[in-house]
Amino acid sequence: MSKRIEVSDLNVYYGSFLAVEDVSLTIEPRSVTAFIGPSGCGKSTFLRTLNRMHEVIPGARVEGEVRIDGDNLYGPGVDPVLVRRQVGMVFQRPNPFPTMSIKENVLAGVKLNNRSISKSDADALVEKSLRGANLWNEVKDRLDKPGSGLSGGQQQRLCIARATAVSPDILLMDEPCSALDPISTLAIEDLIEDLKKEYTIVIVTHNMQQASRVSDKTAFFNIAGTGKPGKLIEYDQTATIFTQPSVQATEDYVSGRFG
Ligand SMILES: Nc1ncnc2c1ncn2[C@@H]1O[C@H](COP(=O)(O)OP(=O)(O)O)[C@@H](O)[C@H]1O
Ligand SMILES: [Mg+2]
Repeated sequence: MSKRIEVSDLNVYYGSFLAVEDVSLTIEPRSVTAFIGPSGCGKSTFLRTLNRMHEVIPGARVEGEVRIDGDNLYGPGVDPVLVRRQVGMVFQRPNPFPTMSIKENVLAGVKLNNRSISKSDADALVEKSLRGANLWNEVKDRLDKPGSGLSGGQQQRLCIARATAVSPDILLMDEPCSALDPISTLAIEDLIEDLKKEYTIVIVTHNMQQASRVSDKTAFFNIAGTGKPGKLIEYDQTATIFTQPSVQATEDYVSGRFG
């Protein structure tokens, strides 16, 4: 079930280094939000605070709040493992488990969560997840073959199937197409359009066409210089960000005049 994300006054640190400063924004359910901005401005760092992956790094921490349908992810007693089940993540490089079959890859998250599942339920979940990732027809006759034997674009859709198999509310994607060819990229973009009916989706992308094709809203992050914190500069409807931004830096970035 798709959920609302509300971030208030979030500061994100690596040790004493303030990497992202004072971000507040609300992301609506059943929408796609793109994070754009130059390298090093903290897009990935901020994204990882939305499912508590940030704090996996020693010394890394946050100040502020992230609420998912009102519940603070950083509240006392909240289990980060449960948070990561609720908020799934897809990475830049497709990362199927190389020794596992296609089917085992889809079920990997479910098994990690210690859910025992009957063979028929498992088969049904594999089919549903792979259909949901627009991959079923391509792999249904080789479910027991290694996931690493698929093309890059297929592997990324397999990773999306793995992420959705645990029924998350939110899907975070960090440059999910940057390692893919243009055809596979379009397949993922079509898939994102379908997935937004069921999930809240946040995608980091360096591809401006992609941001304008897939997202409803866009957040532009920027950095004043090396060692300075990244900041959220402007957040609005994607069409507004690309045609009538209010901040000059946004206009410079989206029109390719940056730097
Ligand atoms: N594991 C880490 N430890 C320390 N600093 C990091 C780590 N990961 C990223 N950073 C720093 O945080 C800042 C933001 O990085 P990042 O979130 O990767 O930016 P983006 O995704 O926008 O390119 C950069 O200054 C980067 O060097
Ligand atoms: Mg990044």
